[in-house]
Amino acid sequence: MQIAIDGPAGAGKSTIAKIIAKELGILYLDTGAMYRAITYGVWKNKMDFSDQEAIADFTRENTIDFKGTDVYLSGEKVTEEIRLPIVSKHTSDVACIGEVRRLLVRQQQSIAGSHSVIMDGRDIGSVVLPEADYKFYLDASIDERARRRAIEQQAKGIDQDFDSIRESIAVRDYNDSHRDEGPLVCTEDAVVVDTTGKSIEEVCQVILENIRGGKAHV
Ligand code: DC
Repeated sequence: MQIAIDGPAGAGKSTIAKIIAKELGILYLDTGAMYRAITYGVWKNKMDFSDQEAIADFTRENTIDFKGTDVYLSGEKVTEEIRLPIVSKHTSDVACIGEVRRLLVRQQQSIAGSHSVIMDGRDIGSVVLPEADYKFYLDASIDERARRRAIEQQAKGIDQDFDSIRESIAVRDYNDSHRDEGPLVCTEDAVVVDTTGKSIEEVCQVILENIRGGKAHV
């Protein structure tokens, strides 16, 4: 079984996808974490974010692994580091590089080829898993998304004010929707769920009802 969840930053994709994965007993793959891991590596190695060829080489030469809830870049645990504001800021510079996308999409498709999976990202329903059994597009107002991100950052002890979070989400929305390859799109066959004002439980219920009432079963 393949389930695709797409949508803008802060729409609740990863929280929801993790719960659904547990409920259905399938693998959860956070594709954003892969773009973030490469971005962190590029930043840590003081590489130039405008050198697309070097970043593509870096992606080819390094490995990304998931173990439980941890993310590893070539063996180094980077779970917390990939959520730093500097990484969020630069991930669009990396995610717009065609060769980087091709390399990461290939890995994502290979994982989906051997596991039942729920994947969240921007291009899952359109590029990574166009034949997914279920596709969902999660959305929410920008203020609500910024509020959620602010609470998340606070819980992690990262000090970032609401306005700068809102601004950085707006920039990311624009960059994610306007790049040439794998832009954020809502495919025609996706079920759109507006999560504004909805609890996590309510959103999960909508998704599970769609899956359980659908054609495929786990
Ligand atoms: O979901 P997230 O906020 O962790 O994603 C981080 C960045 O990676 C975001 O700017 C969009 C990009 N991304 C992407 O281009 N394609 C994906 N499949 C997932 C994330």
